Amino acid sequence: MLRFRPGTEELPPYTLGHIGYSVVSWKPRRGYATAALGLLLPIAQEEGLERVLITCKETNVASRRVIEANGGVLDRVEPMEGMPCEMRLFYWVPTACNGSTAVLNGTGAPLG
Ligand SMILES: CC(C)(COP(=O)(O)OP(=O)(O)OC[C@H]1O[C@@H](n2cnc3c(N)ncnc32)[C@H](O)[C@@H]1OP(=O)(O)O)[C@@H](O)C(=O)NCCC(=O)NCCS
Repeated sequence: MLRFRPGTEELPPYTLGHIGYSVVSWKPRRGYATAALGLLLPIAQEEGLERVLITCKETNVASRRVIEANGGVLDRVEPMEGMPCEMRLFYWVPTACNGSTAVLNGTGAPLG
């Protein structure tokens, strides 16, 4: 899902990032989230965003890897609202051509 306000990097109120994702629990670790984010970034660029903000819990290793595989650069770390012992990571991800070029076939195996 891509969330943004046209013409600006500004986020809609009450959202923590421009992009959120989840993969069904029975198809983990097939590269789907990494590929999906890689496919969404050019669309965000077409919509006028040079970079997108994506956030995740510090403990969410899978999400961190998805973001970093797509060129995410850690911007800041903040305590989570209502959970001061848990930290949220804020990444800026450039929408121009980036590290992830994954294209998947039906089995989840990368092509090429
Ligand atoms: C985060 C999520 C979308 C990842 O989906 P996915 O399709 O399994 O991710 P990928 O297959 O692209 O894997 C990306 C990396 O994370 C790793 N990974 C995936 N699941 C993992 C897990 N449970 N623990 C540790 N690493 C994990 C993969 O091995 C891969 O690492 P690599 O790049 O070194 O090979 C999925 O776990 C999910 O839906 N989680 C619940 C919702 C959520 O947390 N969304 C993000 C909110 S910020």
